[in-house]
Parts: sequence; structure tokens; C-alpha cells
Amino acid sequence: KSEINIGLIGFGTIGAGVVEIFNKNQDILSKKCGKPVNLKKVADLDITTDRGVKIDESILTTDVNDVLENDDIDIVIELVGGYEPAKTFVLKAMENGKHVVSANKALIAKHWEELISNADKNNVRFSFEASVGGGIPVLQPLNECLSANRFEAIYGIMNGTANYILTKMSEEGLKFEDVLKEAQDKGYAEADPTFDIEGHDTAQKLIVLTKLGFGEYVPQEKFHVEGITKITPEDIEFAKNELDYVIKLLGIAKQTNDGLEIRVHPTFIKNDHLLASVNDVFNAIYLIGDFVGPVMLYGQGAGRMATASAVVGDCLDIIFNENKRISYGPVESQVKSMKNIDDII
Ligand code: HSE
Repeated sequence: KSEINIGLIGFGTIGAGVVEIFNKNQDILSKKCGKPVNLKKVADLDITTDRGVKIDESILTTDVNDVLENDDIDIVIELVGGYEPAKTFVLKAMENGKHVVSANKALIAKHWEELISNADKNNVRFSFEASVGGGIPVLQPLNECLSANRFEAIYGIMNGTANYILTKMSEEGLKFEDVLKEAQDKGYAEADPTFDIEGHDTAQKLIVLTKLGFGEYVPQEKFHVEGITKITPEDIEFAKNELDYVIKLLGIAKQTNDGLEIRVHPTFIKNDHLLASVNDVFNAIYLIGDFVGPVMLYGQGAGRMATASAVVGDCLDIIFNENKRISYGPVESQVKSMKNIDDII
């Protein structure tokens, strides 16, 4: 094809970030691909609210079929979020022969098998780097340059909103509720922020990491998930002053003698651990491979532009490697539900 056309469904926070990247970088994206790369259609039910980005009104549509049924469109970006109608859109795009890029960790974590097998069946790529760690490259390294390793552990700070809240509570002694609003205003939080603060968003990301890193698909019902809502500024002060620890919300998957253990909960981290200095909206995924040793992937874990960067990066990867196939293997899992949650990292 002499040019590549992209259709975006969902003109929210991250969708507006994608539009902004095309406004600023379309020339360089096209140059890198050796052909024009166009944002051809942007579909949303609301096309009148100002998102703070310049957009050619002729590409806006309220009819999702202008993307899904459009023969000119090669890649569909799904940024609707949630389970439905996002899942229907993704499946339909694949069935219509379009590659799909998504940042929707809730959808991917829950419907892993159906989405992956539908992409395989229709011979299209399905990429979701932005679903874990915002702008941080983590899924592609796991699938490619780190894939020789058997992982001892994969753990880390995987939610920007929760980390932003904990950082502000620690640095400014603020209360939980006062900081949540700030994180929402900055565009870090999920549409339903309980996903962030109750640990579900971290759990969804951990499910994706566990599948890629350990080859095991473990649904959320199988592991312990606890958020940060019960943490007080006093807890944080005590950890800091009396124990020389910080408290971080971690997603943890690690091999033990009894098999793989998976959990999400606030955890004491020694101040000299690299994760202890990961603050604000930043995330970090710490991996320990049997050959590569420890690797930490660090960067902005949420927010409009960092996440949009990963979304557009996936589109370019598809353009460069349209025929690349990633085999994720079957979903049956040997994982027992977790036991002890008392460890300190
Ligand atoms: N709400 C998520 C977070 C967005 O705060 O990390 C990025 O996945």
C-alpha cells in the first residue's frame, strides 16, 4: 500500500493525545515509514466538546462504522475503555481485516483468549503496549529481547494515580481524598478511579505481564488484590521515620518453591531499593531474569501524551512489521491462589 490510514475510536484523554502526536509529528512518522501515515477518522459519540487539540473537523464522526467498515483504514486504535462496546469494536475491526491497537487493560486482562485468538484467526496484529506502564516500553521487551529468560520475579509500581497519591501524601502530608482529585484533574485516573485506588488497574496490568513473562494466564479472581484506600499519612510517616521504608502499591508475580505467586497490595520498600525513588506519576517494572539479571523499566505510567506515545508506537511497529506474529500460547494455568502477603521488598 502506498499509504497507511489509521482510524481512532474514542476521543477522550488519550485519544486527544494521539491527535496531538499526529499534529506535531506526522511528518516524521511518515518519513520513518517511507510512506504517508494518516489519521483518517476519529469516532466518538461526542464530537463537539473541546479537547484542547486542533483537529480537522472532516475526520470526526459519530458513526463507529466509518472506522470499522471503512475499506481505506488499515489500523484501528481502540481507546473507548471498559468492556462493552469496546470488545465488540475490537472483534469487528479484526474480522474486517484491520490491525488493532488498544490501551484497554481491563478488556485485555479479562478477555485475553478471545481477543488473541480472534486476531490470530483473522491474521491481523493486536498490540497493546500502552495497556501496561503508560509510555514505558515493557511488553515488547518481554516478548522480544528479554524472552530468553525464565523470570524469578516481575514486580513494580504499575499505577500512576496511586503512586501520585502516595507520593503527595508522603511529601506534603496530604490526605488520600485531597490528592485523588488532583490526579483525576491531571488525566491520570481511570474513568472510574476506584480501579486505580483499589488495585484493580494494577491487577489487570499484572495479568498481562504474567502472561507475557511467565506464560501463565491468571484471572483476577485467583489472586489477592488490595488498594491504598486504607493508608493514612501517619502510616507513611511511621514507615519513613521509624523504619526507613516507603509504602508503594505493588503488583507482584514471583516464582516460589510452591509455584507462581501473584498479588497486588501496598508494600514496604526499603529506601535503598530502586523502586523506592519512583515518585509521582512514574511507574517502574522490575524484572529479574535468570540470565539477564535485574532490569528496571521506568517512565511515565499514565497521562495523555506518554500513553499516546505508546499507542502511536504500536501503530508504527505494525507498519514496520505487518507480518510479525506473536504466539502467546494457551491459557490454562497451574497457578494456585496466593498465600502470604507479608513480604517486604
Ligand atoms: N489510570 C492508570 C494509572 C492509567 O493511573 O496508572 C494508566 O494505565
